[in-house]
Amino acid sequence: MKLKKAVIPVAGLGTRFLPATKTVPKELLPIVDIPSIQYVVQEAVDAGIQEIIFVTGRGKDGIEDHFDEAPELEQILTDRGQTETVKMLQRIGEMTEVVSVRQKKPLGLGHAVLCARDLVGDEPFAVMLADDLIDGETPCIRQLLKIFEETKESVIALLEVPQGEVSSYGVIKGTKVKPRLYQIEAMVEKPRVKDAPSRMAIIGRYILRPEIFAILDNLPPGKGGEIQLTDGLAQLVRERQVLGCEFEGERYDIGDKFGFVRATVAFALKRPDLRDKVLEYLKSAIH
Ligand code: G1P
Repeated sequence: MKLKKAVIPVAGLGTRFLPATKTVPKELLPIVDIPSIQYVVQEAVDAGIQEIIFVTGRGKDGIEDHFDEAPELEQILTDRGQTETVKMLQRIGEMTEVVSVRQKKPLGLGHAVLCARDLVGDEPFAVMLADDLIDGETPCIRQLLKIFEETKESVIALLEVPQGEVSSYGVIKGTKVKPRLYQIEAMVEKPRVKDAPSRMAIIGRYILRPEIFAILDNLPPGKGGEIQLTDGLAQLVRERQVLGCEFEGERYDIGDKFGFVRATVAFALKRPDLRDKVLEYLKSAIH
């Protein structure tokens, strides 16, 4: 069955980016001039995913508006002769089908995914976390999709991280079965460094079979008192195969201030209109 839908949880308050996020959803903070969420949606669209399901919360309506058409704005720009800008806005409005569901309480990532159950239905789906920007020749979710198409089993993105950082991630125990492909045996959410089963961390791209919903529906709270997706997957592993894909590409943790700055610099350097100026500035800023 073709994978058609991606769930993107966006209900988080973004407190690490206050005061910027007091009124602006963190997902709309721009990396250069594109809201970060647009890169994630573009990754899904590039992988052939046709429908985006946002799991939203209060004050997050701007995210849906961003992917809507904007006739009044387009008219003003048309009158001013800014046709290229109009075309750019139209492309965003036509990018994808967007639907949304509310997560009324901040009960965790597993709960956020469960909120999308009715909209997903009984079919495999992607989960994409907007704090992880992944820049690669092949979109990360497409790399996972390739494995899913071959195996029809759930696949999650993996990245080897330094030992000292394992406590910030879900971490797997698994066996490498092919280059970049792992058979997962167990996983644990944010373990202490000494308890971590490996240095292979879960990054926010998943392709999941619908069986995960029944598991999440019965899951007790885990780390931090939240319903954890990692705990749900750890249970799924006992019932079915779950695979890990050590993806190719550069990952930016834009939920972190330094990660956000790093992404901003890296994406600016990829822009022909900015590259030379930014390079020159960076050189002059190093004393
Ligand atoms: C979430 C997941 C975690 C994963 C991480 C990847 O954690 O719970 O398993 O490793 O995303 O970015 P968060 O960073 O939202 O706390």
